Amino acid sequence: MKKVLVTGANRGIGKEICQQLLSLGHFVIACGRDLGKLKSAFPQETNNIFLQVLDVNNEESVAEAAKKLQVKFSKLDVVINNAGIGVGNSDLDDVDIEEVKQIFETNFFGPMRVNKYFLPMLKKAIEGRIINISSGMGELASLTSGYAGYRLSKAGLNAQTILLANELKGYGIKVNAMCPGWVKTDMGGSEAPNPVSQGADTAVFLALEEKIETGLFFRNRTPINW
Ligand SMILES: NC(=O)c1ccc[n+]([C@@H]2O[C@H](COP(=O)([O-])OP(=O)(O)OC[C@H]3O[C@@H](n4cnc5c(N)ncnc54)[C@H](OP(=O)(O)O)[C@@H]3O)[C@@H](O)[C@H]2O)c1
Repeated sequence: MKKVLVTGANRGIGKEICQQLLSLGHFVIACGRDLGKLKSAFPQETNNIFLQVLDVNNEESVAEAAKKLQVKFSKLDVVINNAGIGVGNSDLDDVDIEEVKQIFETNFFGPMRVNKYFLPMLKKAIEGRIINISSGMGELASLTSGYAGYRLSKAGLNAQTILLANELKGYGIKVNAMCPGWVKTDMGGSEAPNPVSQGADTAVFLALEEKIETGLFFRNRTPINW
């Protein structure tokens, strides 16, 4: 049984990742910035889930959660950085820099904070894993136009993934990024072709598969170009 922490777990892809892991018998630490929303998302009483308030934008919130969970659980097998926002669709020639900073706060600095504070728990696992939920919109070959802040935040997250994977090789911790595809959620919208089950699938695969590489970008369980 793996112990897996998921951020932004109260809805969308994060919630589905938790549900798939629970149905496979794993222990889930479902994190969200609002305990009420977490309780509504996971009303069932089971021994396999722990609900934790964690706002990825707030260093104090991440540090406090890590301190509490370290005492409670000591070790963590997997961290899934799923929390993200997708506001703004401007080009760089018309960019709202405050809005870009807001996107980076969640999509780029959020995973950086979470990884930093939860690394001591991951280092205690036999083979810790970090999965950064990125997006094809951050693929270098797809930096076309529109959604500049979002694209750059995910391209930055991808670069962070490569750097951290290299830094952590000595600890045996595997760090990968993945694109869930275009998924029907509040962010993806109702036009999206893929159900949440498919959006969550590769994250669950990367969390549980016996042997995986490190420092790669995946879609549909397969490595893709950065
Ligand atoms: N849907 C797609 O088509 C698609 C495609 C490519 C990549 N992605 C990526 O997949 C991930 C999940 O997306 P989704 O479609 O499931 O989005 P979603 O339905 O909008 O859900 C986003 C989740 O992130 C949480 N969140 C936002 N800011 C947070 C913060 N500061 N601290 C903690 N949690 C925060 C939200 O919590 P609240 O309820 O509190 O706001 C919510 O639980 C994101 O990283 C997104 O960029 C999605």
